[in-house]
Amino acid sequence: MSRGGRVQLRVPTAQDAALWTALFDDPEVMRYVGTGEVRDHAYYVDLVARQQRLAESTGLCLFSLVTDRGTVGFVGVHPWERPWGPQGMPEIGWRLGRAHWGRGYATEGARAVVGLARRRGLPHLVSMIQAGNTASAAVATRLGMTVERELVSPEGTRVHQFGLSLAGRR
Ligand SMILES: CC(C)(COP(=O)(O)OP(=O)(O)OC[C@H]1O[C@@H](n2cnc3c(N)ncnc32)[C@H](O)[C@@H]1OP(=O)(O)O)[C@@H](O)C(=O)NCCC(=O)NCCS
Repeated sequence: MSRGGRVQLRVPTAQDAALWTALFDDPEVMRYVGTGEVRDHAYYVDLVARQQRLAESTGLCLFSLVTDRGTVGFVGVHPWERPWGPQGMPEIGWRLGRAHWGRGYATEGARAVVGLARRRGLPHLVSMIQAGNTASAAVATRLGMTVERELVSPEGTRVHQFGLSLAGRR
């Protein structure tokens, strides 16, 4: 468990799959994620298992974000796995349950993740953010990320690739 400020990052557990399912069982949360589909428990069981393997091999993954309100969502780094865009590049991402927005948790968690990525020697992070997702773009901007390019997904959605160079920073 990585601690700092009001938030802690935890490699997700099997129980977190159920927590993530419940937190994200909300079309508003999923509106700008992929095709906007709300995912079921089996999806999150698989997602958690993949994060556990990633954490073992790289020390980084989509971590459960734990606050004094309990687990509020996830934040972390994982490879961009879609068959378009920055394939294989480390992407920083965040997703919180609706009840936990507007408290600064995503930015605080993401700052901790940037620190971990830097200590692991990653030179660069991207974040793929659909046009119109102003809350997510605001998190990226607060981290110092800037728009590197605009892409159109295979589904026809405009997506901004934000980037952050970590090289030379401490
Ligand atoms: C994207 C997302 C994580 C952003 O969450 P968020 O709560 O807006 O982001 P932050 O944690 O940075 O919080 C910032 C807000 O908390 C407020 N805040 C309240 N207390 C605060 C504190 N102590 N410290 C910092 N900010 C605080 C800020 O003023 C800001 O509010 P504002 O947006 O009204 O200006 C959230 O909207 C989400 O989960 N969306 C659905 C999933 C998604 O789209 N993920 C990204 C896909 S690319």
